[in-house]
Amino acid sequence: MTRSYKDVWDSYWRDVTPRPGAAFWDSTPDHAVQRELPLFAAAFDPQLPVVDVGCGNGRQTRGLADAFSRVLGVDVSEGGLRGARAHHAAANVEYRALDLLDGPAVRALHAEIGDANLYLRGVLHQLQPADRPAAVHHLAALLGERGRVFLVELSPAAGQLFASLARGHGGPPAKLQQIVSHGITPALLPAGELAALFHRVGFVPRAQGVTTVVTTQALPDGEIIEVPCEYFLFQRADA
Ligand SMILES: C[S@@+](CC[C@H](N)C(=O)[O-])C[C@H]1O[C@@H](n2cnc3c(N)ncnc32)[C@H](O)[C@@H]1O
Repeated sequence: MTRSYKDVWDSYWRDVTPRPGAAFWDSTPDHAVQRELPLFAAAFDPQLPVVDVGCGNGRQTRGLADAFSRVLGVDVSEGGLRGARAHHAAANVEYRALDLLDGPAVRALHAEIGDANLYLRGVLHQLQPADRPAAVHHLAALLGERGRVFLVELSPAAGQLFASLARGHGGPPAKLQQIVSHGITPALLPAGELAALFHRVGFVPRAQGVTTVVTTQALPDGEIIEVPCEYFLFQRADA
């Protein structure tokens, strides 16, 4: 992309107020992180902080704070973080600006908080393919020796859904159109790409499967759009 991720996402969050439910993917936690907790919570060392990387307006970060004692939400966009601080604050949650592609900043965070468990929802897919190896390398730095990472990303099957929504009467639904109009591309991760990227930095899947992002966008008939996704729980290969 020619504009930075910060520029693109600040522009999105200026247009879409970061109040709960305004963004396409901003499901209530019972349809997202709370539903996912049984898939990863027991595998996370409770002594470690949990970092929600690309936390957006913090709705799922706040959900994590109900389950873990120290949670940090980080995002490249101050616009999203403003909403997070306003709507999803808690005593055990802190929100900070961080670009996942900024290696020195990521390493400084690791030096400060030590090994961390990580949660990511819908973050890696929107990075340009050429940026993904560096992003995963930096995630490995945050994970250190003891951290584990749970992530939910669009699956290849999401492509058919987006194509059919684009073809639909009247074009893509409003909240999807808002995303695209800011230059954000909901890209699909080719099958096997995530596992290959994490394998290169010494992590293997401990669990994986299919899930969905329950969106906040209804179709004209009232049906809520659910985007096909995959989840992974990665841990160090030698753990
Ligand atoms: C689709 S939203 C998902 C937000 C949140 N994870 C959720 O599920 O509600 C993607 C988020 O990733 C953030 N993001 C994009 N590129 C990033 C980067 N390079 N570093 C950190 N965050 C980034 C965006 O600002 C945005 O808030």
